[in-house]
Amino acid sequence: MALRYALRTYGCQMNLHDSEKVANLLHHAGHREAPDEDAADLLLINTCSIREKAENRLYSDLGALRAWKAARPGRVLGVGGCVAQQEGDAVLRRFGHLDFVFGTHNLRLVPGMIEAAERGERQSRTAEHRSLDRFDLPGRHADYAGATPGRAFVTVMEGCDMFCSFCIVPRTRGREISRPAAGILAEARSLAGRGVRELTLLGQTVNAYGRHDLRRGKAVAAGTMAFADLLRELARVPGIERLRYTSPHPLFFDDALVAAHAEIPELCPHVHLPLQSGNDRILGEMRRRYTAARYLEIARRLQAARPGIALTTDLIVGFPGETRSEFEDTLAVMREVGFTDAYSFKYSPRPGTAAAALSDRVDPEEAQDRLATLQSLQRSLTLAAHRRRVGEETVVLVEGLSARSPVGAGPRALVQLRGRDPGHRVVNFTVPAGSGAPREGSLVTLRLVEATPHSLIGERAQDRPGVKDPLRLVYGRRSASPGPRTPGVVG
Ligand code: 5AD
Ligand code: SF4
Repeated sequence: MALRYALRTYGCQMNLHDSEKVANLLHHAGHREAPDEDAADLLLINTCSIREKAENRLYSDLGALRAWKAARPGRVLGVGGCVAQQEGDAVLRRFGHLDFVFGTHNLRLVPGMIEAAERGERQSRTAEHRSLDRFDLPGRHADYAGATPGRAFVTVMEGCDMFCSFCIVPRTRGREISRPAAGILAEARSLAGRGVRELTLLGQTVNAYGRHDLRRGKAVAAGTMAFADLLRELARVPGIERLRYTSPHPLFFDDALVAAHAEIPELCPHVHLPLQSGNDRILGEMRRRYTAARYLEIARRLQAARPGIALTTDLIVGFPGETRSEFEDTLAVMREVGFTDAYSFKYSPRPGTAAAALSDRVDPEEAQDRLATLQSLQRSLTLAAHRRRVGEETVVLVEGLSARSPVGAGPRALVQLRGRDPGHRVVNFTVPAGSGAPREGSLVTLRLVEATPHSLIGERAQDRPGVKDPLRLVYGRRSASPGPRTPGVVG
């Protein structure tokens, strides 16, 4: 039976993209998206287990969804993602109203599991598949636009063989496997044909792409190639104007990839390169396989290859045994690189990982204090990076309305849009509401006029009517005296 589906997604971009793959499979099976969960007959939760808090979220969600399931007969509830992969049957046993559980390698089984659920069968399918055919998913259904207009994710590799001591991913995503380049290029061409301008290549260690198939930089099997060559091929696909990739690992950041940033104009001036810690002893305990000096060398070379490149990172504080002075080494590296942004986390022990067995836990209050110190430093680095850019011209890809939209009503109403510049910074800009406003997925040229700690503010040339700057009206906080406010325009 055709069902109306809703999807809840937690976690990383890989999960977001897995949800897109599932949604696309559902469209191919005749199901359609519901306007919201209340209207849905089918609800799928795509889970994350990277930290304990994320995992617990599933259990509280499932508890609350008993009422959703009971409210209408025939409703179907499924759980996928990393918690599903790890806990499988246990989740099914614990929650009697759950119909099925699908693992990270079993997305293709979802339509069949829905049919089985309609017959009253409950099942959990979490087997790991190592064959390349798990990349053979159907192309985008005509009625499925994807979650991100104008942009798209493309999987190039999956899984992780690194086994960093804190990380659960190798257990939830399985062994590293690279997708043949022909399939990646075909998908890129097809997406470009549907109006996609920006591709983000995805992989747990994306720049390890093809490493198991390469000998001295040449592919010997499986139709892969060096990652930098893959970037070059993708940049040549007509219609693709921007290329990104996430997340690379410093160990595989070779000279060819640094050179790619100097040579490929489509490659965005942004690299998200997880550092985790700036202290060599902690990096060793984390099994990260690089030193702070090596990380700094990559950062400097990228900054030289592409001046103005935005470097962002992931950081963990309070790893077992981390001393205050070891933590301070992380702050020193942050300052030295001048990260544009950082995602930072308190260490969270994950079951089955090597670090979970370490007894030397950092006091939770101390860990909280380190996190606050680190985040305050990052706020100042981010603001400084944003301030340096005021006055620059940039091009954003419009993602949608900003949190403040719309402003006012009637013919003079304004709408504030949110876009991303090539450096992946959020830039908000205000335009007259209505049919003239740029659409999601379009590219818009802006001048950057203000820096805030979280984003930048820009203006289009045509929205700059001399003294009466619409942004001044909307923000009113650009100067101590914001100028006249026009009733009916400012909300
Ligand atoms: N505890 C805290 N943070 C973690 N991360 C991964 N595992 C853990 C953990 N056990 C962080 C890392 C990684 C990001 C996706 O999540 O910084 O890069
Ligand atoms: Fe986790 Fe390390 Fe693999 Fe990244 S490289 S997914 S942190 S094990």
